[in-house]
Amino acid sequence: KNIVILISGGGSNMAAIVRASRQRGWAERLGARVAAVISNRADAGGLSFAREQGLATAVVDHKPFPSREAFEAELVKAIDAHQPALVVLAGFMRILTPGFVAHYEGRLLNIHPSLLPAFPGLHTHRRAIEAGCRVAGATVHQVTAELDHGPILDQIAVPILPDDTEESLAARVLTQEHLVYPRAVESFFHQGA
Ligand code: GRF
Repeated sequence: KNIVILISGGGSNMAAIVRASRQRGWAERLGARVAAVISNRADAGGLSFAREQGLATAVVDHKPFPSREAFEAELVKAIDAHQPALVVLAGFMRILTPGFVAHYEGRLLNIHPSLLPAFPGLHTHRRAIEAGCRVAGATVHQVTAELDHGPILDQIAVPILPDDTEESLAARVLTQEHLVYPRAVESFFHQGA
């Protein structure tokens, strides 16, 4: 079973999943492998890691397209070339239409840097600090038409420290994202996907 990972930037979550998938027994145990990394930005840092790892890569830049739908039609073609059992959004910064989500219904995951349902949307770390939260974290969820609201597969929590800035908290959460995302991908396949 093929996994296709979509990125827009550094791809540290993608790299964590690729590393986990390269561990002894992972591919055999799950019957799954990372087949390709696709980005909407040619300058995404994660593409060089993917190429070093010998993974297929593709870039589908959203800018030349006249509409979101036209861009997504091209993106779907690039993804489906790998016949994915699972599509993983990892730092992928494009809002996807209900049509795209429906096409991958039940096999489309995302990681969001908050403990959903708290703080959907952007600037989650700043909002958590401003709200006086003591705990923050990340959520891996199924992507549905409603942004940041799909069924939750897994979560991980970190403390918010008194002197935390948005940056220090983001760094602490990102480290834990690299644990929870591979764990969630494993659980997706353990459910006999
Ligand atoms: C991270 O903050 C993650 O929570 C969000 O995208 C950001 C960058 O992720 N989904 P990555 O390093 O590109 O995986």
